[in-house]
Order: sequence, then structure tokens, then C-alpha cells
Amino acid sequence: MSDVILQARNVWKVFGKGANGLPGDPGAWDAAALRRQGGVVGVQNATFDVRRGESFVIMGLSGSGKSTLLRCMTGLYPVSGGNVILDGVDLSRASRDALVALRRQKVGMVFQSFALLPHLTALDNVAFPLQVTGVPRAARRERAAKVLALVGLNGLEGRFPSQMSGGQQQRVGIARSLIADPAVWFLDEPFSALDPLIRREMQDEFMRLQSQLQKSIVFVTHDLEEAVRLGDRIVIMAEGRILQIGTPEDVIMNPATDYVRRFVSGMPKSRVVRVGRIMQDASNAPEPTVATIAASATLSEVLPRLLQSSGPVPVADADGRIVGTVDRNEVVAWL
Ligand SMILES: Nc1ncnc2c1ncn2[C@@H]1O[C@H](COP(=O)(O)OP(=O)(O)OP(=O)(O)O)[C@@H](O)[C@H]1O
Ligand SMILES: [Mg+2]
Repeated sequence: MSDVILQARNVWKVFGKGANGLPGDPGAWDAAALRRQGGVVGVQNATFDVRRGESFVIMGLSGSGKSTLLRCMTGLYPVSGGNVILDGVDLSRASRDALVALRRQKVGMVFQSFALLPHLTALDNVAFPLQVTGVPRAARRERAAKVLALVGLNGLEGRFPSQMSGGQQQRVGIARSLIADPAVWFLDEPFSALDPLIRREMQDEFMRLQSQLQKSIVFVTHDLEEAVRLGDRIVIMAEGRILQIGTPEDVIMNPATDYVRRFVSGMPKSRVVRVGRIMQDASNAPEPTVATIAASATLSEVLPRLLQSSGPVPVADADGRIVGTVDRNEVVAWL
């Protein structure tokens, strides 16, 4: 099984005039020429892989092309140029019927606006995708009840959307997106409509779910903090272009352009830099009786612990081996 679940190769999406792109290789198309023809360039020349099981976050300001790129990735928009290959299937070569079937089977989608059906209960909203594919009523309701419990909504099965809070409605949206066990889970600003406290709670919940489900995720947000919290890798977009793809640590420590540098400048480095990056070698490691800290933890996570210790603290890798030491003076320099 390939470790890549989705490939985007020189993907373009142009609206209006020039929607079919230009002749020749999309890798060599010129956005300015498309604009001169009267086209609106939503996405230009996007090339990347989404790996199986990773959380891939698309981030950028309003209008930068995030939703357009996501819709190209799900087959909802036909691309103007380039290719999207979802779990081995080239979306631009699939027939209309094949595409509909593929989207039902492989794509789970959560929207910012929740997009629930107002006349259906929570349970029936969640079961709806299975109704469309003809799963018998009892079976789909049983499965829907399980997924609702997974997102913490037991007891609310019979509520209508108007009888639930925003956070509860979005949990229904999340449950609905998971009911068909999709190969890729797409979320377009799922928490932006929620107030900050609920938002944080939903992010925690999302991380809990992901540690259980290990889905391949494409998550759109315009909030850098959310991107850093939830992303294994982050894509930074501006004006339809991908400026950088990397881990949160890469993007914040080594911004590829001035735009990215300005974009990430408000994020404290201690939130993303991991202990393994700044540790010293293990030669001055203290007695093994001193509790270790994880090389994979961020500096801000270990700070409280380090502030209580005066000397070097041993750092352990995922297998518990001592791989280095840090002391608080080194960490304080990153704050
Ligand atoms: N159907 C459409 N027809 C014409 N232009 C469009 C269409 N959809 C999007 N665009 C344009 O494409 C660009 C990218 O829009 P998109 O919705 O992808 O941005 P976004 O990054 O998701 O923004 P937001 O954070 O506001 O949701 C914008 O300039 C937008 O006006
Ligand atoms: Mg959008």
C-alpha cells in the first residue's frame, strides 16, 4: 500500500474566462496570462502529496484559495489543469458516475457552516450519507448511534439542529463526515464559526478522535495557532499559490519567503520548537533517577518542569532511551 493517499500535480483552478486553462503543460502556465484573458485564478500550479495518516493543514488569509484547492482535491471542482490522484484514482479521468461513487466512499467532509438538514434529527443527519447509498434503516441508525457516541453526543440523538448549540451541531457534522469511514477526511474551517473557548475544546476533541482513528486529514484554517496545534505539516498559501510546505517547526524556524516570515512572526517559537532540536549531547546526563522529558515535546510544554529543576534534565526518545540533556537556561533563550 502506497504511503501517499493523495497526489496533486500542477493543479490549477481558474474561474470565469479561461476556466479550461491554457494549451500545453500546466507546469509552465502563466497566471498573469490567464488573468489577462479575464480569468480569476483560484489555485495555481499546486503540487504536493498527502501522506496516509497525516494531518495536512492548508493555511492562508481569506481569498488565498484554500477552499478552492480543497474542492479540487475532493473532485467537487473539476481542475482547469494538472491532476489530482485520490487513493490511486485520477479524478480528471474518472467518469461522472465513478466520481460520485468515489466521493461517497473515500471523502468525508466537514463544513464551516455545519450544513445539517434542519428537518432531520441528529441521528438521521449522521445516518444520511448511508441512506443515500441504500443502507437499510436499522443498520444505518445503529451505525449512526455509534458514531454519535464517538463524538460525545450520546443522549442527543433525537434533537433537531435548532435544538443544539453550535459546538453540538458541529459534532453532528463531524459524525456525519465519518460515518462512511472515508479514506480522507476533509475539514474546511470546521471550528471558525464557534466562539474561542468552544473552539479550543473542539480542537482537543478533534485531536482525541484523530489519535483513535488515524485518518488522513486535510484541514483548512486561517488561524495559525490552530494550524500549529493540529498539523503534522502546514501548507501556506497566498493568492492561489503555495509558498511553503513543512512541519510547523520548519515553517516557523525557516520561513521560505518574506511573506511567510511576516505571517508566522507572531507565533512564539517555544510553541513549536521541540526539545530534540535544542538539546545538548548526553555526556553530562544526570543520574537516571531524574525523570526524563520527551525529545518530541515542545519547549512551552516542558517549561514548567524545567523551571523547577536547577541542573540538566535528561531527554528521552520515543523508546525511552536517553538521547541528550537540556537545562532551563537554554530554553529561556527561546522564549
Ligand atoms: N465560484 C467562483 N467563481 C469565481 N471566483 C471564485 C469562485 N470561488 C472562489 N473564487 C475566487 O477564488 C479565490 C480563492 O477563493 P477561496 O474561496 O478558495 O478562498 P479561501 O482561501 O477559502 O478564503 P476564505 O478564508 O475566505 O474561505 C478568491 O479570489 C475568490 O474570489
Ligand atoms: Mg474558504
